[in-house]
Amino acid sequence: MNLVEQIKSFMKDEKLVTGAACNAVDFAITKGILMRTSDRRDSSEVVQHAPFTLFPSPVPSHLMDQAKDVQKDFGFLMHVLSQDQDFLKSAYSSVLESDEFTKNLFDIYETTRQEKPKKAELALIRSDYMLHQPDQNTISLKQIEVNMIASSFNGIGTEKVTALHEYNLNSNGFKDFHDRMPENLALPNLADGMLAAWNHYGQPNAVIVFIISDVEQNIFDQRTLEFKIIEKNPDVRVRRYTLGEVADKGKLDSNSKLFIAGEEIAVAYYRAGYTPNDYLSQKEWDARRMLDCSDTINCPSAGHQLVGAKKMQEVLTQPGVLEKFIKGADSLKRLRDTFVGFYGLEMGAEGDEAVAKVLKNPDNYVLKPQLEGGGNNLYNQDLVDKLNEVGSDKRRCSYIIMEKVRPMPVSTIIIRAGSGPQQFKPVEGVSELGIYGVFLASGDKIIKNTCAGHLLRTKASHHDDGGVAAGVAVLDSPLLV
Ligand SMILES: Nc1ncnc2c1ncn2[C@@H]1O[C@H](COP(=O)(O)OP(=O)(O)O)[C@@H](O)[C@H]1O
Ligand SMILES: [Mg+2]
Repeated sequence: MNLVEQIKSFMKDEKLVTGAACNAVDFAITKGILMRTSDRRDSSEVVQHAPFTLFPSPVPSHLMDQAKDVQKDFGFLMHVLSQDQDFLKSAYSSVLESDEFTKNLFDIYETTRQEKPKKAELALIRSDYMLHQPDQNTISLKQIEVNMIASSFNGIGTEKVTALHEYNLNSNGFKDFHDRMPENLALPNLADGMLAAWNHYGQPNAVIVFIISDVEQNIFDQRTLEFKIIEKNPDVRVRRYTLGEVADKGKLDSNSKLFIAGEEIAVAYYRAGYTPNDYLSQKEWDARRMLDCSDTINCPSAGHQLVGAKKMQEVLTQPGVLEKFIKGADSLKRLRDTFVGFYGLEMGAEGDEAVAKVLKNPDNYVLKPQLEGGGNNLYNQDLVDKLNEVGSDKRRCSYIIMEKVRPMPVSTIIIRAGSGPQQFKPVEGVSELGIYGVFLASGDKIIKNTCAGHLLRTKASHHDDGGVAAGVAVLDSPLLV
């Protein structure tokens, strides 16, 4: 029996699995794979382990290599797209008419392009993929989305989960797995990215600010990155502010330096600010504008955030668009190989045709608004209902249609805190592989563009949408096959 089969066979023995799960929970808690509880998301007084799979899930090693190989192409692509204001304006023209959030962000972007076109921008990117297996004989890497803001789980979901899975395999008698479990340096690499931006800013007393929500269940993931930054450079100070606090306390001096509570802000790293809920009033938008228009290096800038929108994925599949930005044939191929089919829903004959085509076979598509964070996409009957509702007016332009990926099924055991006494039965799951990248540039000058590590999340197959924060996907790690 090979290792994957041995793991499958182990998972069928409920007694063995229960023992392994108890040990795994203790290991996870000891290692700090933690979250706040869903009923006390504002307090660290009582905490729980984050949900995880008992064992790593198989990922074909050639697809892992392919995902890593294309990461720098995506870093470069996202940046050059963001530097072309006319292109962005025309690519997003229909969305700007119908989507208030994108419009507000775009207004800030336009101001920064005018006032500070050479300003440094940092992006901690995560490009997410599924392993598309439409039939037994074909498997390929297909991109789900590029996260340009708040790419989470770099703290608690990376090297800590590899360590947990190594412990679980080792303590349950499995052998010869080390070479199959790739090292994951996402956390130190992302911390290095933040420090590179801080160094670039060049003011030793200036601080790094995490822009946060006032209530945050996934706080330990954020703080793991914060503590890694301080571990690497104990002279750096990291602060945590909401956009509201930035609005209340932030002051721009006459040289565009931003100060909060007397401290100059070198870098602003957003773990909030990606949904309309994070901008409940004009005050939060004013804070965002102040951050983007100051000398503070934003991670991401409004421009980098904009090019991470789902609409851009659709635009990039239109004929000739990718070629406009990427000149090398190899790079073009690497990028395009990961794309699935998309449809835009602009008003007019083409959009109408796309709607008609999708309504004929709704199960083959996903309807996506320009939102992040899980739980926003529409599938099956919900997709049909939404298209019928918005089909004939301009609201439909704020959505795109994406072909559905058919991910390779894996057998897995999910361990979730707080769900009472659990029966540990293997379930069919599907995995999503994320590749982190660090990108730092100032105008045309690229200072850093690296592939930084990975994240594997797995969910039970019967869920359409994903997301660990949404309570669907759980932390996993790849076992290369
Ligand atoms: N084209 C697709 N095919 C299959 N599943 C998809 C597709 N697009 C999204 N999903 C599922 O929905 C989840 C959320 O979609 P995503 O585009 O990543 O939006 P979000 O910004 O909310 O994370 C993904 O993690 C994945 O599980
Ligand atoms: Mg996603």
